Amino acid sequence: MLDAIRHAITGLADRLAETPATFHWLRKLPEANYRETKRRISQVRDELAARFPRSEPTASGEPRSLRVLDLGCGTAEYAELFDPARYLGVDIHPGYIAFAQRRRPAHRFVVADVRSWTGEAERFDLVMVNGVLHHLDDQGVAEFLATAKGLTKPGGTLLVIEDVDLADPPLGTRLVHLLDHGDHIRDAARWETLVSAASPIARSETYVSGICPYHLMVCPQP
Ligand SMILES: C[S@@+](CC[C@H](N)C(=O)[O-])C[C@H]1O[C@@H](n2cnc3c(N)ncnc32)[C@H](O)[C@@H]1O
Repeated sequence: MLDAIRHAITGLADRLAETPATFHWLRKLPEANYRETKRRISQVRDELAARFPRSEPTASGEPRSLRVLDLGCGTAEYAELFDPARYLGVDIHPGYIAFAQRRRPAHRFVVADVRSWTGEAERFDLVMVNGVLHHLDDQGVAEFLATAKGLTKPGGTLLVIEDVDLADPPLGTRLVHLLDHGDHIRDAARWETLVSAASPIARSETYVSGICPYHLMVCPQP
């Protein structure tokens, strides 16, 4: 009986998630409008940008800004944190990408499965993988991270943020995880094992966004 109810609820959540607008706006509520995640991503962005003095001109004479790749960008909630001219969002879901492109016409987006995507000629200063890997089994995670690492410039940063399993989560968190699309929400130690197999981790921390717990891993590339 309990299983049937759980099945019905997760089925409804999956159907809602298929509609980009519903997926986009409904998630803002449990995430408290993503304030905490945006603050943390901005901090990583600013730490990295500080390594490139603004006086250093690009070939076009403009001050340098980070070239950013957002893998599994979904509806691109975080695109606003980056220079549109130097941002690329990639997602497997054509509906999410169409929605993102309509909302952010100055940013660039591509529909692709990252695991087999060959990428662009140039690599990126910051490659972000946010809330994607818990949709994948361990083999998929390894493939996804290999692509992500290969697309990060030497001296750049790979940033991974994932839904994390807490030892004793509050009721709201249990509900959010029950409704989540992804079947592979792991605990912090498991995320660290999987990510460090692809790249050394310099900083690793668990935090809460609204009622959603995440584990953030910053991986600077040599
Ligand atoms: C929970 S959403 C996160 C979206 C966004 N990164 C965010 O944090 O708001 C997970 C996203 O990963 C995308 N995704 C899953 N597997 C993928 C793959 N193999 N290649 C590209 N995108 C993928 C899904 O389509 C979905 O948009």
